[in-house]
Amino acid sequence: MQNVLYICGMKEYDNPFHLKGYYGPDTFCDRKNETRLLSENMQNSRNTLLLSVRRMGKTGLILHTFNYINEQHVTPCLYVDLFSTQDLQAFINQFAGTLLATFPEKNSIGKKIAQWIKSMRPVITYDSLTGLPEVSIDFSTHRQAESSLTNIFSFLEQLEQPIVVAFDEFQQIRQYPEKNMEALLRTHIQHLKNVRFIFSGSNKHIMNDMYNDSQHPFFASTTPIILSEISNEVYSAFIDEKFGNHNRTITTDAVQFILEWTRTHTYYTQAVCNHVYATEKRKITKPIVQQCCHDILMVHEPIFYQYRQMLTHIQWALLKAIAIEGEVSQPHAKEFLKKHPVGTSANVQRALEALLKNEMIYCDELEKGVRYRVYNVFLSRWLERKQ
Ligand SMILES: Nc1ncnc2c1ncn2[C@@H]1O[C@H](COP(=O)(O)OP(=O)(O)OP(=O)(O)O)[C@@H](O)[C@H]1O
Ligand SMILES: [Mg+2]
Repeated sequence: MQNVLYICGMKEYDNPFHLKGYYGPDTFCDRKNETRLLSENMQNSRNTLLLSVRRMGKTGLILHTFNYINEQHVTPCLYVDLFSTQDLQAFINQFAGTLLATFPEKNSIGKKIAQWIKSMRPVITYDSLTGLPEVSIDFSTHRQAESSLTNIFSFLEQLEQPIVVAFDEFQQIRQYPEKNMEALLRTHIQHLKNVRFIFSGSNKHIMNDMYNDSQHPFFASTTPIILSEISNEVYSAFIDEKFGNHNRTITTDAVQFILEWTRTHTYYTQAVCNHVYATEKRKITKPIVQQCCHDILMVHEPIFYQYRQMLTHIQWALLKAIAIEGEVSQPHAKEFLKKHPVGTSANVQRALEALLKNEMIYCDELEKGVRYRVYNVFLSRWLERKQ
């Protein structure tokens, strides 16, 4: 019999399909090549640019690779999430918090870090859920902030041992009021010999801009890794195994339905599997999965209606048209304009630009040309059903 723990009368959370964070290799599917590439880059002094559309698994891959690197040898790996940072001060606070969390005060490096951070008179609080430190240093001048950034990097250099720093949601630095942020970081990063960087981002437009800047390419000499969907074969085997490990079976057509319906877009595939698992059914068939998909759409429906309020009539019509088609490569073509109530080619152009800008759709550049898709797979599936 399965060993099930009960906490306060509730079955302990044992769902193997996670929707947030990283829970170790057991519940992580594949990414073997990318993990190997990323860790090879780290071991061979190469910085990496990690790109994908949202929710494909960049953060998961970084944390999985850190886990892998530390199974081989102990290398300090710093994961700095820039998602909520709005300026240089927040960048430094986030970086300092990560340093404190990565190097415990027990060892000599940790002591030095703690001393140095405390010398800036920070307010240090601990997140009530994760227990991780959060640092808040108030810089009265921009110069002070810049020199603290210099200090962080010189500090890392002085450690004279390999260190990996991942800046997740790196495109965020483009939103800072400090317009010299890229130049500032580039200068530091170029000189550090013992630190390897991972720059991870999803906004292709901004990241490309930084990459292609002919005057000051930020990512000059970084190795790019573009993360795409996990293969159908590998994901099917993973889903099958996870249900099997928990004494459940899932039919092949049920698994294929999940992968097709979610387009093997990692977050959405995980979310459907998570819901299917939560039904506690022992034998999972396609109708059970279809019911779960319907339930998920119903839960999200009020939010989807809010999106409609935010968009113009044409933008909404174009979004729906793209959802109905699944993917569109020629949104200006006569047949497309005739088939969907999206107005003229000029209307479509304006709406496309707006939808791309607010990340309601994304554009893939494939060998055979471009492809537009609705970003949120659940929204796409909901729109295609609505009359
Ligand atoms: N290889 C994997 N196996 C299983 N689950 C995964 C895998 N990769 C990612 N996930 C899960 O998929 C979801 C999305 O992954 P993640 O947050 O890493 O994507 P992301 O590309 O960083 O997204 P964003 O651009 O929004 O930050 C999370 O729920 C994560 O737990
Ligand atoms: Mg992420």
